[in-house]
Amino acid sequence: MKQILLTLSIFILLSSCSSKYATVINSEKDYQIIPKPTSLQMKTGKFLLDGNTKVIAVSELENEAEYLSNLLSNITKKNIVFQNDGSKKGNISLQIDPSITNQEGYNLVVNYNEIIISGKTATGIFYGIQTLSQLIPIGKTSSELTIPATQIKDSPRYVYRGMHLDVARHFFSTEFVKKYIDILAMHKMNTFHWHLTEDQGWRIEIKKYPKLTSIGAFRKETIVGHGNTWNKNEAQYDGKPYGGFYTQEEIKEIVAYATERHITVIPEIELPGHSLAAITAYPELGNTGEQYEVGTRWGVFPEIYAPSEQTFKFLEDVLTEVVALFPSKLIHIGGDEAPKVQWENSKFAQEVIKREGLKDEHELQSYFIKRIETFLNSKGRQIIGWDEILEGGLAPNATVMSWRGEKGGIEAAKLNHNVVMTPTQFCYFDFYQTKNRENEPLAIGGKTTVEDVYSYEPTPKELTVDEAKYILGAQANVWTEYITTPEHVEYMILPRLTALSEVVWSKKEDRDWNDFKTRLQHITALYDAHNLNYAKHSLDITIEE
Ligand code: ACM
Repeated sequence: MKQILLTLSIFILLSSCSSKYATVINSEKDYQIIPKPTSLQMKTGKFLLDGNTKVIAVSELENEAEYLSNLLSNITKKNIVFQNDGSKKGNISLQIDPSITNQEGYNLVVNYNEIIISGKTATGIFYGIQTLSQLIPIGKTSSELTIPATQIKDSPRYVYRGMHLDVARHFFSTEFVKKYIDILAMHKMNTFHWHLTEDQGWRIEIKKYPKLTSIGAFRKETIVGHGNTWNKNEAQYDGKPYGGFYTQEEIKEIVAYATERHITVIPEIELPGHSLAAITAYPELGNTGEQYEVGTRWGVFPEIYAPSEQTFKFLEDVLTEVVALFPSKLIHIGGDEAPKVQWENSKFAQEVIKREGLKDEHELQSYFIKRIETFLNSKGRQIIGWDEILEGGLAPNATVMSWRGEKGGIEAAKLNHNVVMTPTQFCYFDFYQTKNRENEPLAIGGKTTVEDVYSYEPTPKELTVDEAKYILGAQANVWTEYITTPEHVEYMILPRLTALSEVVWSKKEDRDWNDFKTRLQHITALYDAHNLNYAKHSLDITIEE
């Protein structure tokens, strides 16, 4: 306890000494950037941002230049414009530099008279802009708008840096999804995994199957609290109809918004399980032909797609519309939590097992997923699925998303398959953030503190150097059974996402919890500037958990 109190007081002292705005730069440590850059050298002097500051770039970098002009104008409340006229004096310039080796790498040089952000690609330049935005003092008067001189060289550790959002258990507006994407961009995350279909709601317009949204996007009511999700009649319901979906126009708008921020959107269309809403809309896709209703409870449901030609035709039609909307190379096909009881009891499913020479229902799931993979490969796409897709044999080109711990990811990497790590213990941001739940909003359970997230190492030590190359990176998941508002989503991801961003971007050997905690205090100024809700108690980190 004594040790805890001591750490706490040192921490409080440190936080009050280190200005939130990092205007006093005495050493490299005072540049409070998250995720920590690969290398940073302190220089003397400072660049003054004023009404004459202009962003200069060639027209290929217009998107990034406009983004930077808007960002600077918002922070400084001045009109900072983009010009491609080549006038360099007193300006901020964006430049492509082919000598930078990493596709997402950048260099940022701040001198008293100029700022240069260079990258091998526009993506690298975009990340340089994010770093620059953290060096600008927030909430200062105009004469103090200075950026400390520095030279930064930076590139990410992992190529996949993801965040997921479940919009099916609860629906979130287009406007909030864009804000979510902005939060990801600010943290140099490059993938948004959009969980669009579930038992409790189908959220993407599919023109060929209008009932998916007219019926499948709405449920008659929702279970209250941690009700008994296994027994329909023992749970309490709110009696309020609930639903919503994204039109294809809205989806295009979000994908374009993400693309401008160098974020790939991976859509998830769940199969063969978590498909009750679709089977409610089209009962012929199920194993019993019964008319079900869209899920009103949480958990895992027995209703899964029948392995019929009609189902495959349906899924291929749906995926044809999906690939037209999403340029992502990876398409998420779910694969998790598909109980086999309906296939065990279905004469038709048993005949398919016999016809295809399969051993059991697990091999039938593998057959199902391999057919979907073949189809998506024919469209130039690859599948990614939860680690249950290992059951009964992994589809040849699949990427595995390891959520039930790291076991599935390790197995897949040893089979030379790409892997994204997202183990529940470290990466489930629907879990509680502290042991003390008294003042916390209701969550699904578990406990993952910001320190737990920061301690996560995505590359398991069980892998050889060659096998480790299959670990593309990591992502965190935000399941929304108990999260109903945008403010609550923000509360669950901040500051845990900030910790994850350093795990997936920065060098492993630079990971330093005490140093991170100090920098975390600074980034809250950015949270405030962007009007973000965050778990403030998570910043009082050394209190006994
Ligand atoms: C999962 O959490 N069911 C992937």
